[in-house]
Amino acid sequence: MTRSLSTVRKLLSAAADIPLIDAQLLLGFVLGRSRSWIIAHDNDVVNEKSEKQFRGKLKRRMSGEPIAYILGYQEFWSRNFIVDHNTLIPRPETECMVEVALEQIPNKPTTVLDLGTGCGAIGISLANERCEWMVIANDLSIPALKVAQKNALDTPNISFFQGDWGEAIKPRSMNLIICNPPYIEYGDSHLSELKYEPLNALVSSEYGLYDLKKVIKESRRLLVKDGVLALEHGYRQRNKVCQLLVDYGYENIQTFDDLGGRPRIILARFQ
Ligand SMILES: C[S@@+](CC[C@H](N)C(=O)[O-])C[C@H]1O[C@@H](n2cnc3c(N)ncnc32)[C@H](O)[C@@H]1O
Repeated sequence: MTRSLSTVRKLLSAAADIPLIDAQLLLGFVLGRSRSWIIAHDNDVVNEKSEKQFRGKLKRRMSGEPIAYILGYQEFWSRNFIVDHNTLIPRPETECMVEVALEQIPNKPTTVLDLGTGCGAIGISLANERCEWMVIANDLSIPALKVAQKNALDTPNISFFQGDWGEAIKPRSMNLIICNPPYIEYGDSHLSELKYEPLNALVSSEYGLYDLKKVIKESRRLLVKDGVLALEHGYRQRNKVCQLLVDYGYENIQTFDDLGGRPRIILARFQ
């Protein structure tokens, strides 16, 4: 006996445990359709193969896997970035850092270093916004760099290298260094919600400050006179990061909040 095929509406109603938008995106992905198409076609029938694929993806989502890993991309700065389990999923608060950097740095030829680029979100967004800027992006993770390189195929003014922060970069060569380093403390309760993302992109020793300190220290060697260091940090780390910047001789320290009003971004200059 053959059973009747499901409709779009019936499949979406089977996904009541996840946000409707996620269910629409997953079904749209399987059918090769946009979310607006799904919304407009809820009486359309879905063939058995697509239903099976949808149910498989739904199961992953219901077990807590982020939708970006299931779809294979995340939107950032109005562009879809390929992501996989080797890369952090870029966050909206990081878009705030891109926005601040674009506002604060004059639009003239500039050398930029994106440290810990992950899927390339920060560096590629800056390179696309400012075609006169030359962006270099690094990461310790080779698998992450491979993803970033795929994301940069249509971005000519960015190059990539593997390394421990900026160790291989020429001294006094960068106008802007921008970095969203790992800054979560080992044992932090939020880590259980982030279990699908690479741990080496998230956690840092010394109460989450080890990598921030390393980048602050290293960047003094790499920045040109009056060059800018832009950092993202945890929402409870502002005072400590400001103090580190003062201790390492930075000046003109400016702090910024994310869209939720939480302190997340710091810019500082080095002479
Ligand atoms: C918080 S993620 C940021 C990823 C991306 N920039 C973003 O904002 O979405 C930190 C990144 O730093 C990289 N990383 C960790 N330790 C590093 C090191 N010693 N040198 C270079 N990159 C490192 C990780 O692999 C990861 O991609």
